Amino acid sequence: MLRRQFLLVIMCSSYSLNILFPPFVFLFFCTIEAAIKLPENETIPAVFAFGDSILDTGNNNNLVSVTKFNYPPYGRDFVGGKPTGRASDGKLPSDLIAEALGIKELLPAYLDEDTKDEDLLTGVCFASSGSGLDPLTPTILRVLSLSDQLELFKEYITKLRGIAGEDRANSIISNSLFIVSAGNNDIALTYFITNLRKLQYDVPSYNAFLVASASSFFKDLYELGARRIAVFSPIPLGCLPLLKTLQGGIQRQCVENINEAVELFSANLSTELQSLNSNLPDANLLLIDVYNPLLDFIRDPAKFGFEVANLGCCGTGTVEFIET
Ligand SMILES: *[C@@H]1O[C@H](CO)[C@@H](O)[C@H](O)[C@H]1NC(C)=O
Ligand SMILES: *[C@@H]1O[C@H](CO)[C@@H](O)[C@H](O)[C@H]1NC(C)=O
Repeated sequence: MLRRQFLLVIMCSSYSLNILFPPFVFLFFCTIEAAIKLPENETIPAVFAFGDSILDTGNNNNLVSVTKFNYPPYGRDFVGGKPTGRASDGKLPSDLIAEALGIKELLPAYLDEDTKDEDLLTGVCFASSGSGLDPLTPTILRVLSLSDQLELFKEYITKLRGIAGEDRANSIISNSLFIVSAGNNDIALTYFITNLRKLQYDVPSYNAFLVASASSFFKDLYELGARRIAVFSPIPLGCLPLLKTLQGGIQRQCVENINEAVELFSANLSTELQSLNSNLPDANLLLIDVYNPLLDFIRDPAKFGFEVANLGCCGTGTVEFIET
């Protein structure tokens, strides 16, 4: 069982975890260490990533969308210092998890034209920066919705069967690790920044709507053969630099009601994952808490070796959307 043997350690220093809502850029500079201990003789043949910019390794590069990261300063600490479409100065959790599992150093974007047949055997990324659980979110940002990502995954399965044969393809999919990060853009952008859903939903009912959407996505993945699904909680969205600037008052505090909404969503999502685990035979869905490790860092950067954590990197420290 994968459960309890999967630990994602996030320490902020040189990599960035980023969510972008055009026209603003937010960067958290973080080192993400994926420490994963598998039972003896257990191997994971491939990794598949779905969802948003926390995991997207470059699927938006050819979309007509402003939610793109294939230009500097993105990628400045990446291999060769080149921007790849990762919303980061370096690698993303999708890459680090593939690496920690001993699979490969980078998880290629499915839509990258350089992605080869042999890459398909060990997993690819379908995530799209700006995407979310609410269908409105990817529509606003003109990126791949979760249903678009599922359609690409179906196309992938057909290709994989062609390359590996049906039995091996089925075995790859059922033994692989699926990682999903979604909900960040829905809560921060669609709910709290644009207010597009506020008339229709209060926080508990919007959370229920998001959780229902997540649940249906996980069932679709299960139907397509996925069994091991690691689900990232949203990050402390109330501490996004932009939200601190817009709604955090003169002190640019983390916006507590937004962080509370994230905590509530994660609690509801966790309950839903437990229910899916009991209802879907052999399903192993696990919530990965990204929220608390990041919040620890934001609250006590000195503990992690940093002197300054609340100033923008490139100017006055109050109006930029980039923080170190
Ligand atoms: C792992 O595989 C080796 C070689 O096949 C075997 O000797 C060992 O007993 C296996 N360990 C477990 C825990 O199954
Ligand atoms: C969501 O979580 C809160 C806090 O744990 C709980 O009170 C509420 O009943 C949950 N809602 C749903 C729909 O599960």
